[in-house]
Amino acid sequence: MFKQFKFLIFLTTLKFAYLTDDHQSKNVIIIVADDLGFHDLSFRGSNEIPSYNIDALAYNGIILDRFYTAPMCTPSRAALLTGKYPHHLGMQNYVIVSDEPYGLPLDVKLMPEFFKDAGYVTHLIGKWHLGFFKEEYTPFHRGFDHVFGYLGPYIDYWDYTLQMFNRNYSRGYDLRRNLTVDKTYDRVYATDMFTQETINAIENHNQEKPLFLILNHLAPHAGNVDFPLQAKEEDLKKFPYIENEERKTLAAMISSLDESVGRIIDALHRTGMLENSIIVFFSDNGGPTTFQHATTASNYPLRSQKESAWEGGIRTDALIYSPSLPSGVLRTQYFHISDLLPTLLTLAETNIKVKDKIDGIDLSRMIMNDMPPYRDEIVTVDDVSGYGSYIYSIFKLVNGSSSNGRADGWIGSNNNSDVNKDDYITGVLNSDVAQILKNYENPLIPEEILEIRENATVKCSGIISDCDLLRGPCLFDISRDPCEEKNLEPTNPLLFDAMLKLYHSSLKKLVPSHKKPLDPQCDPANFNFTWKWWE
Ligand SMILES: *[C@@H]1O[C@H](CO)[C@@H](O)[C@H](O)[C@H]1NC(C)=O
Ligand SMILES: *[C@@H]1O[C@H](CO)[C@@H](O)[C@H](O)[C@H]1NC(C)=O
Ligand SMILES: *[C@@H]1O[C@H](CO)[C@@H](O)[C@H](O)[C@H]1NC(C)=O
Ligand SMILES: *[C@@H]1O[C@H](CO)[C@@H](O)[C@H](O)[C@H]1NC(C)=O
Ligand SMILES: *[C@@H]1O[C@H](CO)[C@@H](O)[C@H](O)[C@H]1NC(C)=O
Ligand SMILES: *[C@@H]1O[C@H](CO)[C@@H](O)[C@H](O)[C@H]1NC(C)=O
Repeated sequence: MFKQFKFLIFLTTLKFAYLTDDHQSKNVIIIVADDLGFHDLSFRGSNEIPSYNIDALAYNGIILDRFYTAPMCTPSRAALLTGKYPHHLGMQNYVIVSDEPYGLPLDVKLMPEFFKDAGYVTHLIGKWHLGFFKEEYTPFHRGFDHVFGYLGPYIDYWDYTLQMFNRNYSRGYDLRRNLTVDKTYDRVYATDMFTQETINAIENHNQEKPLFLILNHLAPHAGNVDFPLQAKEEDLKKFPYIENEERKTLAAMISSLDESVGRIIDALHRTGMLENSIIVFFSDNGGPTTFQHATTASNYPLRSQKESAWEGGIRTDALIYSPSLPSGVLRTQYFHISDLLPTLLTLAETNIKVKDKIDGIDLSRMIMNDMPPYRDEIVTVDDVSGYGSYIYSIFKLVNGSSSNGRADGWIGSNNNSDVNKDDYITGVLNSDVAQILKNYENPLIPEEILEIRENATVKCSGIISDCDLLRGPCLFDISRDPCEEKNLEPTNPLLFDAMLKLYHSSLKKLVPSHKKPLDPQCDPANFNFTWKWWE
């Protein structure tokens, strides 16, 4: 009843907004976690790493239960900003390594540029990782009015340098404001630094214009290989019950991320902006359990990890919250990261539409009221590495192993902990976010929290049958088998062939990867030990 009433008000506001000229579009705040594992927040049922603020935001808003990204950082962020599949941009192969002279093509219009057209002030805080070999590829020239962050893949959490681990270049400082090297912060923990910058942007925002802000957190990505997992002492103390030291540190890093979300919601509330804001939170790809930049992340019970087309690589935790959107729901329809561009332009009431052909679908009606159009297809491919997957309706075809078979199983730990079990509800209800959102929503009740959490917990079918990607592609019914346990290929040859054909025809417009051989001219030693555009 209350939700319907809210929706009526929303429709009325929308109508009113279109009839008057002075309507204000909604502020849009996108918070991206880097390499966060599916299992490593607590709203999917685990009590190991409590994320009470993020969970409270999810329960007060909408959990995007089937949110899909690309398998790695650069392709994912390219899709976010353009509304296109990475393989329609030439950005599908691996990531941009800092000495490679290429970037997100300049002829494509980016999300902040669309929002600028709608009168927004635009900020990027944190990671870029879409190319910086020439100045015009850097975010300051790509639609952001204000940029504070790093150009490459990651930095040290305390000194903000990147040391490429398999090259002989110097260590380089990678933190800029707009185009200038910035030394405002001295050994402030990166998660706190980016949070503080976000709060500053919110507090200093002139509310005559709407705000568009992307916060691309470093957390919980690993730092440099000489010191990969970095957390604050006070956060480490919260996890005496986690034995594995690396996992304990990861938990502390995620706890700091959760606190960041609480502080940002608080800043939006204090400034009176929350009422008219939309907040999106998600991870850019699955967590790395093993191999490069492994953090002990777990995507349990999803299969495999980052840099794979298994569910563990591309299905990530995601939510959307706004006082103007439904509360306490879980949308089980597919949502691809490229859908955020058209969907947010509509949800934020901008009157701007994307005119170019994109892959993203405007799913605002699905978000608001579970109404079509729905997405029924998701294509994932890295044709250079030789792996990909194709989802159509309830079926998913998985092709090619990215790890020569070594990470194709269920590799994430399901270590849980009973330590926080009895305190979970209290933890959520007492969180900063839950306390603040009582001003905007009906207060959460324990039964509701338990029901949503139960629905957000992925249950495997338990019937495991053979799939070996080294022998050929496999086929799954991911609606009933979200853990990709039962290979349907042997028993459904016709369906399998049809899916294989659809997969190949979905790749007809593939743009060859723009990847370039390394250029040692980038060496930070040439630029006073900073990472800088070198061409
Ligand atoms: C960054 O650039 C914007 C203009 O786009 C300007 O308003 C702002 O003052 C700049 N900030 C710094 C610290 O240079
Ligand atoms: C780095 O230097 C060492 C020693 O000179 C050399 O063996 C190695 O091949 C170099 N690595 C790269 C990536 O250039
Ligand atoms: C899971 O728990 C076991 C037993 O406490 C421990 O030995 C193991 O290291 C844990 N795994 C992780 C990834 O924390
Ligand atoms: C499919 O997988 C094979 C390896 O089994 C690989 O050679 C090929 O490139 C892959 N193709 C696509 C489009 O994923
Ligand atoms: C949880 O799942 C049940 C059974 O499918 C459904 O009836 C209920 O509406 C769901 N609740 C939420 C909040 O999604
Ligand atoms: C080089 O970096 C140092 C240390 O940050 C700084 O003091 C110096 O001014 C920089 N030199 C130039 C030419 O930018």
